[in-house]
Amino acid sequence: MNRINSQALAGKIALVVGASRGIGAAIAAAFAEAGAEAGAAVVLAARDQAALALRVAEIEAAGGKALALPVDVRDEAAVVGLLDQVRNRYGRLDAAVNNFAGGGRPPAPLADWDSAEFDSALAVDLRGVFLALKYELRLMQLNPDGGAIVNMSSTAGEQGVSGLAGYVASKFGVGGLTRVAALDYAAAGIRVNAIAPGPILTDHLAAAGPRAQQMAAAAVPLGRVGRVEDVAEAAVWLCTEQSSFVTGAVLVVDGGRLAGVPAFAVNPVRKG
Ligand SMILES: NC(=O)c1ccc[n+]([C@@H]2O[C@H](COP(=O)([O-])OP(=O)(O)OC[C@H]3O[C@@H](n4cnc5c(N)ncnc54)[C@H](O)[C@@H]3O)[C@@H](O)[C@H]2O)c1
Repeated sequence: MNRINSQALAGKIALVVGASRGIGAAIAAAFAEAGAEAGAAVVLAARDQAALALRVAEIEAAGGKALALPVDVRDEAAVVGLLDQVRNRYGRLDAAVNNFAGGGRPPAPLADWDSAEFDSALAVDLRGVFLALKYELRLMQLNPDGGAIVNMSSTAGEQGVSGLAGYVASKFGVGGLTRVAALDYAAAGIRVNAIAPGPILTDHLAAAGPRAQQMAAAAVPLGRVGRVEDVAEAAVWLCTEQSSFVTGAVLVVDGGRLAGVPAFAVNPVRKG
């Protein structure tokens, strides 16, 4: 992360919600690393306190400052409590990344989804983002110099994916909330963007095995699945002054998958 000017993060407080593993853990580590010399601190929130404590220990061992706080984003009082604790501890919030996901059910055709399963997907993946945004914005508004928020969408928030009614509906909604919040808070100096990752090598894809990873990589024009660091670097960039003219954007980090499909009978251009 040494491409980020660490002074840009001097004294800044960042919050990553959904930071106990995978992409969120990498984002928290990237913030802590980028801001370590400048005295920045990162708050890691999720439901799993034991996993969060491990992530905090890793960050501190690497010289960063971090704090773990519990939250279940389905519970409005818990989200209020989280932001209250950030305010009481640090008095400010400069950057927030809403990275969580987790509702729903295994893939199934739309008519096989129970309405309760659909509600449960939206409760985390869409309503959770609304609640997190609402209370992050209220705290960030107190800053004379504004702040930046990143919502984690997906390529499934830009195109349909069969079987994933709850997830796709939520992620399309995340794109909408991102644009509305960007407009509502632009004059307050708060930028709100989203990232839409393609397939990223996290526990889910690792557990699916090498064949699934090869198939995922084969569908990516750049020929590989993403690393959690690919998304983490984009998230930190969107939260620094280096992206100061970017708001209301959905940054696709997918190795070119959403760019389109290969033409028939045209050989791809190779290296060298
Ligand atoms: N991994 C991928 O390939 C991929 C691709 C596109 C988009 N994404 C998006 O990136 C984000 C992170 O993905 P990941 O694969 O690292 O996920 P993950 O399942 O490994 O981690 C999700 C995080 O959210 C937290 N979480 C879940 N439910 C919560 C709740 N109710 N309250 C608070 N925290 C909760 C978990 O504890 C965990 O920290 C998600 O928004 C996901 O939709 C991931």
